[in-house]
Amino acid sequence: MKIFKVAVIAGDGIGPEVLEEGIKVLNKVAELDGTFKVEYTHFPWGCEYYLKHGKMMDENGMDKLKEFDAIYLGAVGFPGVPDHISLWDLLLRIRKGFDQYINIRPVTLLKGAPCPLKDVKREDIDMLFIRENSEGEYAGAGDWLFKGKENEVVLQTGVFSRKGVERVIRYAYEVAKKEGKTLSSISKANALNYSMVFWDEIFQEVGKEYPEVKTYSYLVDAAAMFMVKDPKRFEVVVTSNLFGDILTDLGAAIAGGMGLAAGANVNPERKYPSMFEPIHGSAPDIAGKGISNPLASIWSISQMLDYFGYETWGKKVLEAMEKVMVEGKDVTPDMGGTAKTNEVGDAVVSVLGK
Ligand code: NAD
Ligand code: IPM
Ligand code: MN
Repeated sequence: MKIFKVAVIAGDGIGPEVLEEGIKVLNKVAELDGTFKVEYTHFPWGCEYYLKHGKMMDENGMDKLKEFDAIYLGAVGFPGVPDHISLWDLLLRIRKGFDQYINIRPVTLLKGAPCPLKDVKREDIDMLFIRENSEGEYAGAGDWLFKGKENEVVLQTGVFSRKGVERVIRYAYEVAKKEGKTLSSISKANALNYSMVFWDEIFQEVGKEYPEVKTYSYLVDAAAMFMVKDPKRFEVVVTSNLFGDILTDLGAAIAGGMGLAAGANVNPERKYPSMFEPIHGSAPDIAGKGISNPLASIWSISQMLDYFGYETWGKKVLEAMEKVMVEGKDVTPDMGGTAKTNEVGDAVVSVLGK
């Protein structure tokens, strides 16, 4: 029997309640499959932990996490702890520390998922965002000079290394080639005259190795507009850290909402564990009410199953989610239903069992 060790960081707000449903689903899959088991280790890290201990995770937290096959994360951040502290000391620390430089975020309108766009066919929204996840605008390079003085200055420097840009772009070309899809690069070289000119050049350069991949290059502002007006032009998409962050929330909005969008933070070399999470935050406005949508965290489980080599199960989990959404009885208020968080998880488990 194969055993997968999963570190669970439920985190803040709705994090714990949505993860519980994902774990239910993963356990059901393991039971049905019969060839593997999952062992969970829960880490109590997050904002509450910070308020008690003055830190977001244990001193040797990264060493502890290193031993796992995967990390399953809920959400980080809550009023009372400054966001730049909570996120930099936990979520971003793991992404960077474990060199999870690829962030895979599907923007696919599943059957039954609500879509605010009119005149758009369901199959027209089927994109795979490959977001740079280790540097760029999120490098954390900068300074804060003359704080509080009249001549106060802050610097926030983007860092785009040749290695960093090349590896994410190459990864995206590989995916597009393997899946026989087009590849769109999203940048902003008209205004960002160093970083994005460099990005575009590398996109061209690496592209020479992939003559079979049809490519497009968009400015980020136009890309945002086309995602709404003509989403079918995007298949595989590669973009920088910040643009990817913003555009995938837009993607979530057109493909079922924040309660459905998932992301995998991947270290392709598998030197470190990869991390699976819904892309939404801790949703303080609805935390504790039991009405958060767990489908995003269940989709993350589908991504984890793919990563573990159980793609057939990954697909079955998505199909089970679709059945639940099409039926429409067991969906949460953000999707127009009245179900509680746990009822959605139960419904997915029940469909899987049939
Ligand atoms: P958010 O994603 O938490 O919430 C935005 C809106 O979407 C809210 O109205 C919320 O109720 C709704 N929403 C989100 N997830 C939902 C779900 N599963 N079901 C139903 N509705 C859902 O974003 P925010 O309000 O900008 O941020 C709140 C906190 O979360 C901040 O501290 C922020 O820094 C943090 N954050 C963390 C992560 C992460 O841990 N990965 C991601 C984004 C934001
Ligand atoms: C996301 C989140 C994070 C990001 C924040 C919380 C640092 O918004 O995963 O999309 O910007 O990457
Ligand atoms: Mn985001």
